Amino acid sequence: MESSKKYVVEHMEDGIFPWVKLEYLAVSRDVGGGSKFFLTSLKPELYASLPVELQDSRVVTTTTEEVIMLPGLQQLANQGRVCLLDPGAEVDLSPGDAVNFDYYVFGGILGDDPPRDRTGELRRYGFQGRRLGVKQMTTDTAIRVTKMIIEDQLKLNDIEYVDTPEFRWNKHESTEMPFRYVKDKLTGDPVMPEGMRELIRNDANKSFDDFM
Ligand SMILES: C[S@@+](CC[C@H](N)C(=O)[O-])C[C@H]1O[C@@H](n2cnc3c(N)ncnc32)[C@H](O)[C@@H]1O
Repeated sequence: MESSKKYVVEHMEDGIFPWVKLEYLAVSRDVGGGSKFFLTSLKPELYASLPVELQDSRVVTTTTEEVIMLPGLQQLANQGRVCLLDPGAEVDLSPGDAVNFDYYVFGGILGDDPPRDRTGELRRYGFQGRRLGVKQMTTDTAIRVTKMIIEDQLKLNDIEYVDTPEFRWNKHESTEMPFRYVKDKLTGDPVMPEGMRELIRNDANKSFDDFM
C-alpha cells in the first residue's frame, strides 16, 4: 500500500474557463506535502493555455489521456483502491477510508444548478464511489474536504461549511453561489480560490450590463 495520496481531476469541460483555471490553481496549492495532483483528459490545445504554475511537473502531472491510463491505475482500480468522489454514491467518505484508497478521482466540471450528474460519466471505470454529503461542492472544495477527511482525519460532519453564500456588491446587486464551501475559521467566509470573488463580480457586472 502506498502512503502518499493522489488526487486526480478528470477534466470534462470543452474549454478551460477562467473559473476552472483558478480552481485548478487552488488545488495545486492545496495538494502538497507528499501528496500528488494529476490533471487528466487535458486536450493539447488546452495545455498551452494553462497558467505557468500548472505547466510545472513538480506541481501537477498533466496528461491528455484519460484517468484510467495513469500508470498502474487500472490495476489499483481492480483492487478497489481508487475512489470516485461521486455525489450519487450511497456511502459518505470517512476518515477510515484513508487506508482503503490510494487515488481520489474528481470530475473537472463547472458546478451547475440543478446538478446534471455529469460525474456519472466516470462511473464506467468501476471505481469505488464515495459521497461528500448531499450538497454540491465546487471541484476545489470537494478536493479540500476530501483532504481534510483523509489526511487530517476529520469527519465530514465535523467540518464547518458555508452553504449558498451571497456576495453583495452594493445596495442593489448581489450574486448567490449555489454550492457548499469550507468555512474559513478566522473570517467565517467561504474558502475560495484566489481571484474567484473578483471573477464572480466581473461576471455579475457583465450580466448587469446586459440588462441596461
Ligand atoms: C461541481 S461538482 C460537479 C457536480 C455536478 N453538477 C455533476 O454534474 O456531477 C465537481 C466534482 O466535485 C466532486 N463533488 C462535488 N460535490 C460532491 C459531493 N457532494 N459528493 C461527492 N463528490 C462531490 C465530484 O467529483 C464532482 O464531479
